[in-house]
Amino acid sequence: MSYQHRIVITGGAGFIGSHVVRLFVNKYPHYKIINLDALTYAGNLENLKDVEQAPNYQFAHINLLDADAVQQLLVAEDVTGVIHLAAESHVDRSILSPLDFVYTNVIGTVNLLEAAKKRWAGQYEGKRFYHVSTDEVYGALGDTGLFTETTRYDPHSPYSASKAASDHFVRAYGDTYGMPTVVSNCSNNYGPYHFPEKLIPLFINNIIHGKPLPVYGDGLYTRDWLYVKDHASAIDLVFHKGRQHDTYNIGGFNEWKNIDLVKLLCQQMDEKLGRAPGTSEQLITYVKDRPGHDRRYAIDASKINQELGWSPSVTFEQGLSETIDWYLTNTSWLESVTSGAYMAYYETQYKNR
Ligand code: NAD
Ligand code: DAU
Repeated sequence: MSYQHRIVITGGAGFIGSHVVRLFVNKYPHYKIINLDALTYAGNLENLKDVEQAPNYQFAHINLLDADAVQQLLVAEDVTGVIHLAAESHVDRSILSPLDFVYTNVIGTVNLLEAAKKRWAGQYEGKRFYHVSTDEVYGALGDTGLFTETTRYDPHSPYSASKAASDHFVRAYGDTYGMPTVVSNCSNNYGPYHFPEKLIPLFINNIIHGKPLPVYGDGLYTRDWLYVKDHASAIDLVFHKGRQHDTYNIGGFNEWKNIDLVKLLCQQMDEKLGRAPGTSEQLITYVKDRPGHDRRYAIDASKINQELGWSPSVTFEQGLSETIDWYLTNTSWLESVTSGAYMAYYETQYKNR
């Protein structure tokens, strides 16, 4: 079969990537979707069980640091589009091992840009290189204000510094070589397949097991939460309709202080587990703060709303409830990803807090 588009989605075995792969495989049977993923601790092919047999889906087990393999894939598949999500994505791990973030997020991104530049060799008609990034590159907000597409970059963690560097490289390839790039910067996602090192799935797992809920610092840090399927639908729009060399901020219009979110999560979990109201809240434990912790993130998503007609479709209460239900149903997924190496990470991260 000849496909209209042949798209490499990197990081497709991870949390957001798996939702993007699923959306594209199902919605665009006339596109070939190639999932390039190294399968690090965060990558899991179980996340894609329901699409792995689809005729327009292919998995390529490649590390972005293997520049030759990346180049060969783009040539062999005559790739017309790239949606780049692969990254080291957890702030706490970046504090423990910054270099891993430089390798994958910076060098890996440049390897991918180089491979696309060579493959397309200036023939950019019908091509697109889409880089998926984060609002953390903008740094921290005070009590008021929102991040817009023109907010100055001010990253504070090794993770956000590495993502900022990768954003700059992508834009530099657009400016210098004319590569048809587009970038989006999104707020905190949540939903099914979220790795339980991040706040919401970690706390769901701990509540299930009656373990302490380690709230960093005073718990008054604020994040803007977006259901992962709404992020995937935004990525679909930006890939197809976003302006060349432009940037789109994506967010949930949904700010929560960590402690308020944790209390809502505790309430919903108590109801769903048939525990007495207040049971899970007793697990809340204030612990030592994250170094360099950004006080508040909040996205102004009016550009993508006005230009591309995107807005979130799910309320936070709905999305959180569906997410909890997913974790309570998919206990074997949760058990498999929290065995072995996860326990060693958990020990290192939380033992001295
Ligand atoms: P994740 O950690 O769940 O998944 C990352 C994926 O990348 C995994 O499948 C992993 O195996 C793969 N990967 C890592 N290093 C690789 C390498 N060297 N070569 C090939 N594959 C590699 O990440 P996520 O939370 O799904 O985030 C996806 C992207 O979205 C990232 O770029 C992240 O910065 C960005 N983002 C995430 C959020 C969020 O809330 N999770 C919000 C905004 C933006
Ligand atoms: O804003 C987008 C970013 O959101 C993405 O770019 C990152 O990839 C993603 O991991 C996420 O980063 P955060 O650092 O905001 O997410 P995390 O779930 O790690 O933490 C959310 C908030 O909860 C943050 O203020 C730190 C706090 N926290 C987190 C953990 C893991 C705790 O209080 N206790 C914890 O154990």
